[in-house]
Amino acid sequence: MTQPQPIAVITGGASGIGLASVRRLKEAGYFAVVLDIQPPPPESADLFIRCDVGDQVQVRSAAEAIGALPGRLCALVNSAGIGEPGGGLEELDPEVLWRVICVNLQGPLLTMKHLVPLMKAGGGGAIVNVSSIAGLMGSPGYPAYAASKGGLIALTISMARELARHQIRVNAVCPGSVPSTGFVRQQLGRDFTPAERLALLKKVPMGRSLRPEEVARTIAFLCSSDSVPITGDVLVIDGGERFSS
Ligand SMILES: NC(=O)c1ccc[n+]([C@@H]2O[C@H](COP(=O)([O-])OP(=O)(O)OC[C@H]3O[C@@H](n4cnc5c(N)ncnc54)[C@H](O)[C@@H]3O)[C@@H](O)[C@H]2O)c1
Repeated sequence: MTQPQPIAVITGGASGIGLASVRRLKEAGYFAVVLDIQPPPPESADLFIRCDVGDQVQVRSAAEAIGALPGRLCALVNSAGIGEPGGGLEELDPEVLWRVICVNLQGPLLTMKHLVPLMKAGGGGAIVNVSSIAGLMGSPGYPAYAASKGGLIALTISMARELARHQIRVNAVCPGSVPSTGFVRQQLGRDFTPAERLALLKKVPMGRSLRPEEVARTIAFLCSSDSVPITGDVLVIDGGERFSS
């Protein structure tokens, strides 16, 4: 009898860093389940469950569906995230703050709450939370986003400490700017102009922009047995951008 594939759940797996992680984890032999509010491109994921990660009812029902799959849940990547339009403190609408916190911080909390029991039942696993250099350095003009990503780092470390005895590792990655994903469009309502792209490149000491696949490689490493026993770590992937933030 053939062993069922190990399962990886990727939130926000329909686009950008999440989608690149789906592809990378599939290459590594996982059955990739995407939780997202939009469908992933055809033939990327093995299973798509429409789910707003900020909504406990939807996350619980997604977890039930995942629990009914053959195979062990071995990896969870929390990549779903949104930004705010920008403008800073005085323009910050508390409703926007709430929504950003709801998706970026409550989302990972809910997926961990409802999926960790499956990992425990399977004897362990790896969780990777996609934070940001904004969570380490702050981000002038984007206080809600920075607070949500800083909170996600604290949540990651807390969960790493709580879950280590169950052989569940919890790590965070902090990417710098990845301009080719849907994130800039979601945040600004448009793509970067050529001048903005150039300004960004000047901010990165390595003089190159990050690609989603480069972040996905680190995420896959943190999911794999190659990274045992790394837990509670916060890995920065930014070409040095944080030094000029
Ligand atoms: N792109 C960057 O410059 C950058 C830098 C640092 C960190 N990040 C983080 O990386 C993660 C992925 O961003 P990306 O750049 O790939 O952006 P993206 O917009 O390409 O992907 C985000 C995905 O999350 C999904 N999503 C949004 N709200 C959701 C919700 N409520 N429930 C479920 N899914 C939801 C979107 O549909 C989309 O598929 C985010 O957490 C983001 O904060 C991005």
